[in-house]
Amino acid sequence: MKILNIKLNNYRNYKNLDLNFNDGINILQGRNAQGKTNLLEAIYFCSIGKSLRVSREKEVIKFNEITAKINLKLQKKYKKTLISLFFSKNTKKTVKIDNIPIKKIGELMGEFYAVYFSPDELKLVKESPEDRRRFMDIHISQTSKSYFYYLSRYEKILLNRNKLLKTIQLNKNNQNKEIEKTIEIWDKQLIEVGSRIILFRNVFIKKLQPYANKIHSYLTNNEEDLKLEYTGIKNENLENIKEKFIKSIKESFNKDLNLGYTSFGPHRDDIKVLSNDIDIRLYGSQGQQRTVALSLKLAELEIVFEETGEMPVLLLDDVLSELDVNRRKKLLNYCKKTQTIITGTDFEYNEDYSYFKIENGQILSIKENKKI
Ligand SMILES: Nc1ncnc2c1ncn2[C@@H]1O[C@H](COP(=O)(O)OP(=O)(O)OP(=O)(O)O)[C@@H](O)[C@H]1O
Ligand SMILES: [Mg+2]
Repeated sequence: MKILNIKLNNYRNYKNLDLNFNDGINILQGRNAQGKTNLLEAIYFCSIGKSLRVSREKEVIKFNEITAKINLKLQKKYKKTLISLFFSKNTKKTVKIDNIPIKKIGELMGEFYAVYFSPDELKLVKESPEDRRRFMDIHISQTSKSYFYYLSRYEKILLNRNKLLKTIQLNKNNQNKEIEKTIEIWDKQLIEVGSRIILFRNVFIKKLQPYANKIHSYLTNNEEDLKLEYTGIKNENLENIKEKFIKSIKESFNKDLNLGYTSFGPHRDDIKVLSNDIDIRLYGSQGQQRTVALSLKLAELEIVFEETGEMPVLLLDDVLSELDVNRRKKLLNYCKKTQTIITGTDFEYNEDYSYFKIENGQILSIKENKKI
């Protein structure tokens, strides 16, 4: 799929923007703090229904304004789609698909596939398991509405279970037997929903592995062999996952009571990343970690294509300057597969790319690629 046009109104430092994107590589060039990331943020917002950087969404409304709008026109394989987001200081955000408001953000999943990558994504390999769970969750949600639903259901169940564990911890009286019975009810739901999440993730990692390895070999000139492992229950049969989950929840019950939270479940799982059998998170160099993160993200493109027949739009925020010349060339070559939007401060001119110069929330000049 590809983006045909984006319109922004009072979005961050954009007063009014009306921009057509081209096929292939689109370069957003501009000095620091001119609005490059803001534009990618607006695009990605239409894909996952939330911002890549703020938890308070109202921050995207331009200073001293009350409302903001994003309109994104997409060309898919068989049809065009218009995604519209409306933010207001006074009301909740609304999302429309082809001018029809959606009731739940889950309905947006699968409308617009995009993969976003920035130097921050280095965290994907380097930092806490939360980042890797987020990576799995965003990806799987994009291609499965039911996963998105299980995830939000699971979070609620977990919250309730943890609340009860805390209550027991604080209550040193005999009401605790009653509460423990209620926990059992939550456990059933936790296992039911959690097992499905684990199953989805197992399938995802299994699909991701060969693509990620292939791309990683390509980026590293066949020097590194990449392996991915899901650290939670490893199984591709729902019943088996449930059985193991039940066992582990029972075994960790006393520990959970002491801790006051649930210590076992998909909310604690992780992806282990091995390059030539070495744990990259612990022992990899910065460059290695960066390349692995990039391989995982590019592999996402391939899986979405395999699953849906649509190639996601690739959004690369400031990543070229982080790579050595060889990897930069390889990445750009890879990007030819799909519509790609790349931001940065300096670029060498290439007649195959389209260039957009951004200054202070405005497009100063456009240089179309020679094929148009
Ligand atoms: N709600 C808002 N209203 C107006 N301006 C905003 C708002 N939020 C952020 N900005 C401005 O947007 C600018 C940052 O834009 P952005 O992060 O897109 O820069 P950039 O071009 O990606 O820069 P860099 O090259 O440093 O990454 C900042 O100057 C900031 O003050
Ligand atoms: Mg930026």
